[in-house]
Order: sequence, then structure tokens, then C-alpha cells
Amino acid sequence: MQEIKPFKIRDIEINPPLVLSPMAGVTDVSFRRLLKRRGGVGLSVSEFISVEGLTRSNPKSKRQMRFYEDERPFAVQIFGGQAERMRMAAEMAEEVGADILDVNCGCPAPKVVKHGGGSGLLKDHSRLETILKEIKKAIKIPLTVKIRAGFYDHTINAVETAKLAEGCGAEHIALHGRTKEQGYRGLANWDLVRQIKEVVKVPVSGSGDVTTIQGAFDRFRETGCDGVLIGRGAMVNPWIFRQIEDAIHG
Ligand SMILES: Cc1cc2nc3c(=O)[nH]c(=O)nc-3n(C[C@H](O)[C@H](O)[C@H](O)COP(=O)(O)O)c2cc1C
Repeated sequence: MQEIKPFKIRDIEINPPLVLSPMAGVTDVSFRRLLKRRGGVGLSVSEFISVEGLTRSNPKSKRQMRFYEDERPFAVQIFGGQAERMRMAAEMAEEVGADILDVNCGCPAPKVVKHGGGSGLLKDHSRLETILKEIKKAIKIPLTVKIRAGFYDHTINAVETAKLAEGCGAEHIALHGRTKEQGYRGLANWDLVRQIKEVVKVPVSGSGDVTTIQGAFDRFRETGCDGVLIGRGAMVNPWIFRQIEDAIHG
């Protein structure tokens, strides 16, 4: 059986290689700590945080950036379409002590996409490039991205997006293998995770539909990915991370 082992985002060890997938309205500080204490969560991520809110001192956005020391390693995820605001928000995340800054390139919500953010960045690679380069210049902590398969079902470009992000200095790529058009219908395409893993040097993780120990093991084996993200599966079974970790250790 393939060995499932920890991986590193620069010098930050993700151990076990299991990530609590960001979920707006769900993965707030209470939910994250509840899961973390069950065990098996290698990386926690904030809910996606609006850079428009954050850089205008919106109390909700500021609150969403809060985390506890025992949650480390901890990533703050931001979303937006304006490079200047994205840079400012990234600096704020670094200032509050986040270990990693993650850029959301997957949210399908119309109010997010309308302003060029979330999955809107998948169909505007030049905007994505500007944003990532701007952020990269401004922060010292690792920059990571979470992307979708593509914007429309006929414009699947996850491999190109991943290469672009790596070229801009992203140090981890997480793919949710559905398109924006698909929303949450159907199943995630994990073959794209395998394809990305083949062409980039940075660690690659996959997201989508993992709800069992066997499901996680199968995705690691089929794709050679470094990490697996679990979102909805953790809402149904908060012990899932711990159970997978126990299985990894035999
Ligand atoms: C209620 C909900 C909120 C979500 N919010 C975010 C978010 O803020 N940022 C993000 O990158 N993905 C978000 N996602 C996507 C998940 O992180 C994940 O990629 C997706 O649900 C597929 O994985 P799963 O089947 O394990 O849930 C959200 C998903 C759900 C169901």
C-alpha cells in the first residue's frame, strides 16, 4: 500500500496530510477547534474572508481572522478581485500571525464572481497573476491557492491555473475538482489532481467528496497527491480526521 506521509508547505509540516477544508459559515473558530481536538487535522483554514471588509475594518471580517495558538498550522483564506486590497489583506493576515496565506480562486457565489474574485479568477488569468505577484511581494509567509477545475464545464483549465500560480510563487495548490458552472452538482474530478501533481513541483492537495477512510486512501493512491481536504464529510463525522490518521498508522 502507498505510504501516506506528512508533507511540507515550505518549512511548515502538514502532519497528518489532512486539511480541514474552508467552509464559509461553518469553519469558524468554534467548529475548527472542535475538530482539531478530535485529532487528525494537519492544517486548519479560516472561512474565506472578504478583503473589501477586512481593509475597511468590517468587524465580521476581522473576527473571522481570529484563531487560537492550538490551531496551528493555520491558514487565512482571503477573497477579492482587486490586487491592492488583496495585498493589504494579505499583510494583515501575516500581521495577526497566520502561518499561511491562501487565495480563494473557487467561490462560485455571484456577488463574489461579479467583482472578479473567487472562481472569477479562473477566467481572468492576467488578473490572477497580478494579484498573486502583488501578494507575493508583500508577505514573507507562504502563499497558497485553492482553485476549481475551471469556470465553465467547457473551459476546464485547472492545470494551467496551477502552473500560473506556481510561477507566481504559490507554494501549495489545492484543487476542488468541480467547475464553477457545476457548483456542487455531480462529483469532483480527481484526475485533474493527478494531472496537476505531474506538472508542478510544489505540493498538491485534492478536495471533493471524501467522506470515508477508504475514500481518502483511494484518492491518495489514485492521484499521488500530497494532501486531502475534507469539508462536508467533517460536518457529518467530526471524527473523520482522527479515524483516517489512525488508519494511516495502521
Ligand atoms: C457551506 C460551504 C462553504 C464553503 N466555503 C468555502 C470557502 O469559504 N472557501 C473555499 O475555498 N471553499 C469553500 N467551500 C468548498 C469546500 O472547501 C470544498 O472544496 C468543497 O465543499 C468540496 O469538498 P467536500 O466534498 O469535502 O465538502 C465551501 C463548501 C461548502 C459546502
